[in-house]
Amino acid sequence: MSGKKRILSGMRPTGRLHLGNYHGALANWIKLQHEYDCFFFIADWHALTSNYENPEEILSYIREMMLDWLSAGLSPEKCTMFVQSHIKEHAELFLLLSMITPVPWLERNPTYKDQIVQLENKDLSTFGFLGYPVLQAADIIMYKADTVPVGVDQVPHVELTREIARRFNFLYKKEVFPEPEALLAETSKVLGLDRRKMSKSYDNCIYLADPADVVLKKVSGMVTDPQRMRKSDPGDPDICNVYDFHKIYSDEALVNEIAPACRKAEIGCVDCKKKMAENLVKAMAPIQEKRKFYESCPQKVDEIISAGETRARAVAVKTMEDVRAAINI
Ligand code: TRP
Ligand code: SF4
Repeated sequence: MSGKKRILSGMRPTGRLHLGNYHGALANWIKLQHEYDCFFFIADWHALTSNYENPEEILSYIREMMLDWLSAGLSPEKCTMFVQSHIKEHAELFLLLSMITPVPWLERNPTYKDQIVQLENKDLSTFGFLGYPVLQAADIIMYKADTVPVGVDQVPHVELTREIARRFNFLYKKEVFPEPEALLAETSKVLGLDRRKMSKSYDNCIYLADPADVVLKKVSGMVTDPQRMRKSDPGDPDICNVYDFHKIYSDEALVNEIAPACRKAEIGCVDCKKKMAENLVKAMAPIQEKRKFYESCPQKVDEIISAGETRARAVAVKTMEDVRAAINI
């Protein structure tokens, strides 16, 4: 593994993964695992910051997430996959970093301000929620990661991580931590069935674990060009979600055929959806096959989780030695 740059990223176990998560993050991780020394972890403590009332839900999603990762193609030979709460060192580093992180840095964090408004039905006026990015900084610098693949919404957190790392090195006069860089993926944008952002809370998702018949049914209910009432009306593929899916899942010939046919009302939405759904189901088949395999051997999944824990801990223990030596406490 030496010589390769190190990548670290995490996901909160708040639900089964859907196509939005896959194209927005996971597909990129799967690509990166071939070029980098990768650490990917399930951020269960981060899930707890906003879902502290339902820890049992988080626990079941940890397992689901590992199954989703493995079936989508993250390889346990290529990357270290682990669960955040298994590595208690994250909590110690979080504590120490919290000593040196000024509260105003956290209060002006745009993600924090956003979430407080968006999740107004939850009481998020907690210390843990404000400190979310400090825990995230601990996750990242614990592994001295060079690169952190994230979505745009997480860029402020990586920026804050750099500032915290810099402040630590400055205060304790030792270059313990490198400053990590955010890596924005080129992602294909997939929207939900109703053309809003794909999200569990909108109930508009296609999940990686959805069987073929569920996928077909969901696709048949997808929103198309809203102006197109009848099959004889011409449609506009450029504002149609089904067409966006075609661009991801169908071959170029079909994509090029559909756009003009839709504009001339030569193809109906029912047919068009059927064609897309077939290709989507085909693309999802290998993922589902792998999921069946892993579901049928749970010990194998346990082994992968504990092998990841061992590898992650080896790094974390070493980092904490450096940290304690620098602070001398
Ligand atoms: N905050 C990230 C998210 O919600 C999850 C996360 C936790 C993370 N720790 C991380 C991402 C460290 C990258 C690096 O998506
Ligand atoms: Fe969309 Fe296809 Fe219907 Fe055109 S024919 S509006 S591309 S579903």
